[in-house]
Order: sequence, then structure tokens, then C-alpha cells
Amino acid sequence: MTTMIELLLPEAESTDLLGQALAQTRPAQAVVHLQGDLGAGKSTLARALLRALGVQGSIRSPTYTLIERYPLADGEAWHLDLYRIGDAGELDFLGLDEASADLWLVEWPERGVGGLPPVDLVVALEIDGYGRRARLQARSVKGEAWLQRLGQMAHLQPFFTP
Ligand SMILES: Nc1ncnc2c1ncn2[C@@H]1O[C@H](COP(=O)(O)OP(=O)(O)OP(=O)(O)O)[C@@H](O)[C@H]1O
Ligand SMILES: [Mg+2]
Repeated sequence: MTTMIELLLPEAESTDLLGQALAQTRPAQAVVHLQGDLGAGKSTLARALLRALGVQGSIRSPTYTLIERYPLADGEAWHLDLYRIGDAGELDFLGLDEASADLWLVEWPERGVGGLPPVDLVVALEIDGYGRRARLQARSVKGEAWLQRLGQMAHLQPFFTP
């Protein structure tokens, strides 16, 4: 059982690699929380993940729109940034239906407590010198299996902390 993985990401390109690895190992349906301060790398990770899933064109930060939706081969990905939300009740106005997204990527999820579906994976990013530290925590059986697969990705091995 893998419930937690920690990585050191020395540069933005390593955050991209983690995003790509998450894309390659993702389950069919998942809810991901992206935690961390302003500038920690949440959007960088989301962008790399979405790109690896085949999203074309610009991937804008949903800072002002709260949500950006992207078609995937097998459904839809939703990228949310709740930094500017007043309270979780505002999520109701977006008319989000849990079942219609195959992938939720939620920045500032702590601001949407009560209005979001149950989380599978929490990715917490933290500034560490010039780079970033990433802690991935599984919050469901599906999330655990995901981390298990991620832990076996050869190109991520250099980033795992001992
Ligand atoms: N591992 C890394 N090492 C160094 N810089 C990184 C790393 N990952 C991302 N960055 C850089 O951090 C900056 C901020 O990233 P990003 O916009 O993704 O932050 P964010 O967490 O989404 O912030 P916000 O809360 O404002 O939305 C970008 O310039 C990005 O290139
Ligand atoms: Mg962001």
C-alpha cells in the first residue's frame, strides 16, 4: 500500500515530468487537489498533466474564471482555481456535476470545502530553495493504486526522496 510519495523537483521541467507521469498513470475517474502557496507550481503541474492528456491550444490559469474545461479522448477534465471564491456555496452556481468530469484538478481546494467531490489524491507543493518539494498523498483506494503506479515510473526515480 502506497499512501505517500515525496519528490524534490529542482526546476520547472521536473514539475512538468511529474505532471506527465500523473497523466500516464491516472485512473479513469479522479479528483486531485493541488495545494501550496502562491507560485508553488500548482498551475505548472496541471498544465503539464493536461498537455500530456492531449489538450491542444492554450491552457490558461482559471484564476478569474474559477474553472476551465477541456475535452479529453474519454470525457472532460476540469481545472479549477478557487483562490478568489468567497465561500464554497459559489461552487453551486457553476453547476458542476461530479459525474460529468473524468478528471478534477483543483487549486486552492481548501476554499471549496463542502462543495467538492471526495478527493483521491492530494498533491502539496512547497518552495524549497530554487526548486519545489512535492508531497503526494492518497486519500482513496483509487489514489493508492495511482501512487503505486507512479512509484514505478522510471523517469521519476531521480526525484524521489530516500
Ligand atoms: N520545480 C520547480 N522549480 C522551480 N520553479 C518551478 C518549479 N515548478 C514550477 N516552477 C515555477 O513556479 C512559478 C509559479 O508557478 P505556478 O503558476 O504553477 O504556481 P501556482 O501554484 O499555480 O500559483 P497560484 O497559487 O498563484 O496559482 C512558475 O514560474 C513556474 O515555472
Ligand atoms: Mg495557479
